[in-house]
Amino acid sequence: MTHGEALEEIRQAGDPPRKAVEVLHDGFEHYSWVGIYLVDGDELVLGPWQGPDATEHVRVSVGQGVCGAAAASGRTEVVDDVNADPRYLACFPSTRSEIVVPIVHEGAVVGEIDIDSDRPAAFDDDDRAFLERVAQLIAPAVVT
Ligand code: SME
Repeated sequence: MTHGEALEEIRQAGDPPRKAVEVLHDGFEHYSWVGIYLVDGDELVLGPWQGPDATEHVRVSVGQGVCGAAAASGRTEVVDDVNADPRYLACFPSTRSEIVVPIVHEGAVVGEIDIDSDRPAAFDDDDRAFLERVAQLIAPAVVT
């Protein structure tokens, strides 16, 4: 699937965040686990997700882990080697790299897209730009 096709499918969906999780997981082989966390006060709460396994990290404090860092700064985090990043909260033994993209609506972080890959350094500038577009697209539907 191309990035353009994915964006179009998400744009046309009745529930864009849920569709985004499905399209990203099913359409891109190196996106092993895809989830959306929603900001709830000073915590992130897991919303829709798709992947081989459930994570035990269904609530993460803002500031904790790679997810919490991205929520606190409002900036995308790319971790090429999760085992070398002391912030990393382990979910799956197979994970090698991770990207976390904040979802910003009207200047506030309302959630984030979290993707784990079983490949080392799976996320390049293209992935980042694409996922930031996805985050923009779903932001109005993510407001909590
Ligand atoms: N690895 C994340 C926690 C969430 S799991 O990847 C699903 C982190 O370090 O914040």
